[in-house]
Amino acid sequence: MGVPLLNASGCLDPLTAPEVARSLDVVVTKTITPLPRRGNPPVRIAEVEHGMLNSIGLQGPGIDVFVDDHLPRLAALGVDLWVSVGGFSAEDFARCCERLDGDERVSAIELNLSCPNVEEAPETAAELVAAARAATTKTLYAKLSPAQWDIAASATAAVAAGADGLSLVNALRGLALDERTLQPRLALAVGGYTGPGLRPVALACVYACAAAVDVPIVGMGGVVSGRDALELVAAGASAVALGTVLFADPLAPGRIRAELGAEAAARGFADIANPSSPLVVRTGKNLQTDENDTA
Ligand SMILES: Cc1cc2nc3c(=O)[nH]c(=O)nc-3n(C[C@H](O)[C@H](O)[C@H](O)COP(=O)(O)O)c2cc1C
Repeated sequence: MGVPLLNASGCLDPLTAPEVARSLDVVVTKTITPLPRRGNPPVRIAEVEHGMLNSIGLQGPGIDVFVDDHLPRLAALGVDLWVSVGGFSAEDFARCCERLDGDERVSAIELNLSCPNVEEAPETAAELVAAARAATTKTLYAKLSPAQWDIAASATAAVAAGADGLSLVNALRGLALDERTLQPRLALAVGGYTGPGLRPVALACVYACAAAVDVPIVGMGGVVSGRDALELVAAGASAVALGTVLFADPLAPGRIRAELGAEAAARGFADIANPSSPLVVRTGKNLQTDENDTA
């Protein structure tokens, strides 16, 4: 049984770092919107305790330039490719999904239903999933926010609306103040908080959703080691995405894959670091002992 490793959306530019991309099982693009976006004004990044804040604001070329210019180069990397899409209305999600539907270079679409740095769509997450589902037959992963009391209810609604899997979790909102002036360090004050501080939150979200729905879950949030990845798998994830860690350690995928195998083996679990299985492992079967494996 393998645990595929992905990058978290927005945390790797695969065209700038193709070797890092090739060290992953799946590459996920930064969120693409229907129209080009310049993103938020700088300063957009701040290092904080146990992680970082970002306020990128969905900067990107727009879906048409993405498909015509970026997609051919991404496909040439030879790595399984997921495209993250986002927007400000159900129509935006539908438009991006429609454009990618039937494109064999794209193996799944991740719906960014939860960007903390831009205005939210007026529709609920489930309504956005339904709009995407109507626009494409591709595998759809719904990426949810951890900033909700009952994430399992949202997950259940997203799956009922047509999501094939879940990506858990996106950033939490955070604020950092300059030590001397006590003014916000980011231009727009509040940003998305990611990194190790998010880890227990992500674990709780994966755990709650895995109990509520029977679809594959990509777990992410603060993973810096194989042990962290293993904990997400134990909580119910069948794949793990690496985000903030990639900024500090681009070699993290190889290291974490090796650590994951060793940590699992040390606890008597089967070889879960072999990335051969597709994302179909279900909750409760994610961790098998060697004995179970051979039974
Ligand atoms: C600089 C930066 C940019 C991000 N951009 C996106 C994005 O475009 N779309 C998205 O769904 N998530 C985005 N995220 C969130 C990550 O995909 C991930 O959900 C989050 O960082 C939690 O994982 P981590 O703690 O391992 O970083 C971004 C995160 C960072 C740090």
